[in-house]
Amino acid sequence: MTQPLAGELKWWQRGIIYQIYPRSFQDASGDGVGDLRGITSRLPYVASLGVEAVWLSPIFRSPMRDFGYDVADYCDIDPLFGTLADFGALVAEAHRLGLKVMLDYVPNHTSSDHAWFQEARRGKGSPKRDWYVWRDPAPDGGPPNNWKSFFGGSAWTFDPASGQYYLHQFLPGQPDLNWRNPEVRAAMADVLRFWMRRGVDGFRVDVIWLLAEDEAFRDEPANPEWQPGQIEHASLLHVHTQDQPETHTYIRELRQVLDEFEDRMMVGEIYLPTEQLLPYAGTPDAPMVHLPFNFHLILLPWDALQIRAFADSYDAACRAAQTWPNWVLGNHDQPRFRSRVGADQSRVAQTLLLTLRGTPTAYYGDEIGMENVPIPPERLVDPAGLQQSDVPGAGRDPERTPMQWDGGPNAGFAPAAVTPWLPLADDADRVNVQAQEGDPASDLNYFRALTALRREHPALVGGEYRSLETGHADVFAFERTLGEARVVVLLNFGGETRAVGELASGQTLLSSLEDRPSAGAPLRPNEARILLGQ
Ligand code: GLC
Repeated sequence: MTQPLAGELKWWQRGIIYQIYPRSFQDASGDGVGDLRGITSRLPYVASLGVEAVWLSPIFRSPMRDFGYDVADYCDIDPLFGTLADFGALVAEAHRLGLKVMLDYVPNHTSSDHAWFQEARRGKGSPKRDWYVWRDPAPDGGPPNNWKSFFGGSAWTFDPASGQYYLHQFLPGQPDLNWRNPEVRAAMADVLRFWMRRGVDGFRVDVIWLLAEDEAFRDEPANPEWQPGQIEHASLLHVHTQDQPETHTYIRELRQVLDEFEDRMMVGEIYLPTEQLLPYAGTPDAPMVHLPFNFHLILLPWDALQIRAFADSYDAACRAAQTWPNWVLGNHDQPRFRSRVGADQSRVAQTLLLTLRGTPTAYYGDEIGMENVPIPPERLVDPAGLQQSDVPGAGRDPERTPMQWDGGPNAGFAPAAVTPWLPLADDADRVNVQAQEGDPASDLNYFRALTALRREHPALVGGEYRSLETGHADVFAFERTLGEARVVVLLNFGGETRAVGELASGQTLLSSLEDRPSAGAPLRPNEARILLGQ
């Protein structure tokens, strides 16, 4: 495929997606939980980062058992976050600032409080019965098969009123919708239209690879690689609950709904290897999601050789599939990347995210170097952690803590008198936006320098990618080229000084370390450097 010129790229190819976890961004109402008015007040900050779009994790009506990923009404805002009018104001302010707005669309399951499920559970004769997945008990009265919930235990809950079980791949309070039912598909298509009419530019689609399950409800085989101590869900190979052919059909339909409107996009949450991942983009004739989330920078060990090998194969596979690449370092389900790679490597990681070919998604707070926050046991709230307290790291609270705005009470997230829903980091008085704003050497300003470079050098956005030989196992180098322009990225994954010869001979555009190195200078430990190619 010939590469499109930077000017021909769509917004979702050209720009950076910035994920906001609404509970944790800014509390304007003073109840300890973030809200829409809070987000709107902080949009100028978001725009100052040089990102293209904000993605808001779910803001719809919800009993919040999974903090909004359990939707009770897809077409209303939860009162905790505000009103539809507040949302209108948020969209207007975002668009005024040149930011796109993306919502989190949760199609696989509703809340058990959703009117559809309330109706369905009235009995086998309910007109909405088939909107969910019901099965008779096994002969012994137990669940119909061995399928497991991501959050531990069976994926089936018994409903005594009708004597049947219903399916839930997450909490019992998150019953799976039956996507085989055309009425469900039509209702869920209308949800997309509802929000697009309100100016929403795109959607992140929750667990899109789980939409359909095996029609024969066969047991899943054991995973021979599973070890005790890992989550129970991983003890099975999910050949009958994930990545089913029908799911691809449903996604093609969703894409047609998006294409009824101009310039909208969707990015799908899909944890699969490249060969199963890229088909989710579809083909030019039958497109599916615009971006199938690529989580491999999170899943791979932090190792230059392995990351290079992956980047090479992924880039080539995207090219062959005529799919636009994308990269992610963190989200609300994964440990903060700075905690994972270490503070020394944090800018190497940030540089990688923002210079590889493809759309980057950045998680709120990563730009100031937020880390996992240890949560005292009495303040844990994530059901995934509470239900699997025997599995280290199963809980997601540490990466969902309030944004650190300033050195004042509650780090400026909420009024002083309030207890935020999750504790603030101990170092919030030091690691915060205000402290970093005025410091040219801060993480925040490094992030801004990277986004500014992307604007100044279209090769970093639309250019070709090719990895380069460095002669060192702990240095990853690549070039981005567009026409005559060539930009070289050098990443030292280790703590040793590394000479890279000719590769470092161009003019340095940016270094992650304070002093600008002279042309040809070896890479310093943990240095990320971006140069003009010779
Ligand atoms: C996705 C979300 C996660 C949620 C789950 C169930 O993985 O990212 O936060 O718990 O789906 O909706």
